[in-house]
Amino acid sequence: MERTFIMIKPDGVNRGLVGEIIRRFEHKGFKLVGMKMMSVPRELAEKHYDALRERSFFPGLIEFITSAPVIAMVWEGENIVTFSRKLIGVTDPGTADPGTIRGDYGMTMGRNLIHGSDAIETAQREIHLWFNEEDLVDWHAVNHPWLYE
Ligand code: RTP
Ligand code: MG
Repeated sequence: MERTFIMIKPDGVNRGLVGEIIRRFEHKGFKLVGMKMMSVPRELAEKHYDALRERSFFPGLIEFITSAPVIAMVWEGENIVTFSRKLIGVTDPGTADPGTIRGDYGMTMGRNLIHGSDAIETAQREIHLWFNEEDLVDWHAVNHPWLYE
């Protein structure tokens, strides 16, 4: 089953939206297989956003991600990489559709609440970056036959 890396950013944690964001993933039918709250070391933040290193907003982005705790998670489900990006909405909350997490709760690009891996290969890289294999839980959810044919 496909897995993705999801992170509730410092604004989501400070605004008390952790439960609301997790609720949306749970109610869709996705399965949580790993979760931790942590302050992000600068080096990890820089590795995570390595592809954006040359962009002008990179220093501000790193400052933001390391400014307060985040919730790092791994979720599992069919087509989850693509679908979780739809749940999250486009990068700028100002243009994200209502019904998406960023569209419903965000105002600006630099405070967009949540991160989701953008491709299957990216998800694998990010899961390995943020979690040890033994911290991910292989478990059977009883709702499985009610979600999948
Ligand atoms: P994320 O990686 O955080 O899930 O967001 P994303 O895929 O939708 O967007 P990405 O292009 O990967 O950018 C990562 C984060 O950098 C900030 N950003 N600021 N000022 C800007 O033009 C700008 N562009 C991107 C956003 O916070 C974005 O989530
Ligand atoms: Mg991205």
